[in-house]
Amino acid sequence: MRIIEKVSEMQQQADAWRQEGKRIVFVPTMGYLHQGHLDLLRTARRLGDLTLMSIFVNPSQFGPGEDYQSYPRDLDRDIRLATEVGTDVTFVPLAEEVYPEGYQTHVEVTEVTRNLCGRSRPVFLRGVATVVTKLFHIVKPHAAVFGEKDFQQLVTIRRMVRDLNMDVDIVGHPIVRESDGLAMSSRNVYLNAEQRRIALRLNQSLQRARVLVDAGERRAEALLARVKDFLTGDDGVRIDYVQLCQPETLEDVSLIDGPTLLALAAWVGPARLIDNCVLRPPS
Ligand code: PAJ
Repeated sequence: MRIIEKVSEMQQQADAWRQEGKRIVFVPTMGYLHQGHLDLLRTARRLGDLTLMSIFVNPSQFGPGEDYQSYPRDLDRDIRLATEVGTDVTFVPLAEEVYPEGYQTHVEVTEVTRNLCGRSRPVFLRGVATVVTKLFHIVKPHAAVFGEKDFQQLVTIRRMVRDLNMDVDIVGHPIVRESDGLAMSSRNVYLNAEQRRIALRLNQSLQRARVLVDAGERRAEALLARVKDFLTGDDGVRIDYVQLCQPETLEDVSLIDGPTLLALAAWVGPARLIDNCVLRPPS
């Protein structure tokens, strides 16, 4: 596996591969890899000739007071894990080169970013859209793989790519979970054993919602009340949001009469965790 740090070197290499007719498939990450990231890399490998990952903890997607400084980092381990799944190149740029002094250009996707995480993390999706645009210009991929765990991020990237005519296929990857159902996340490392147990309620509340919808519940308000009640419990889960949305526009729905995104974000101790599923009412 080759590691590239300089933007110009990455661009030249990408040009050379393109001239050779190689299909570049890209997985952008912030590192501290877990099995979810590795599954994205395995998928990328199946889809092209060259698997390229980036590791960059992107400062522009963290708001004031968020965990940019403390975000977990372990480059050596990441390189080892990515090598094991056959990644060809890891691009690890320096923040000074990605955002040099005087930097002032941002990419904003206006509608699908209004709801869900966009409400409580106002700069997050602008930072993501901006850095992903930059990474696409540097890595020049034919395709890029993103996880459905960050559902709104995936919808935002798809919208951006369509709106700005970016010539990149966006591939969604299902959520990868621990054996007990917790969605894998680099931020799970913030949880102690007790919090780790409590965090299971995120996925469990999605399962409860499925059961209720299968049993005929179609009213969003009633379903959300049940999910919130279960999720809160009586021991330290603080809800940021629980919402039912149309899966493409991410607008709230009042009735579940087709595929509907149930998305939630909650604080368990020091960790803000997210999870989601698409509810499909039986016809
Ligand atoms: P990061 O949180 O490192 O995630 C990198 C990619 O892995 C994203 O596409 C994310 O959706 C996916 N992913 C993370 N956990 C997953 C899981 N349990 N199952 C499936 N996919 C999972 O998302 C980011 O970084 C950043 O915002 C980034 C896109 C790199 C821009 O900075």
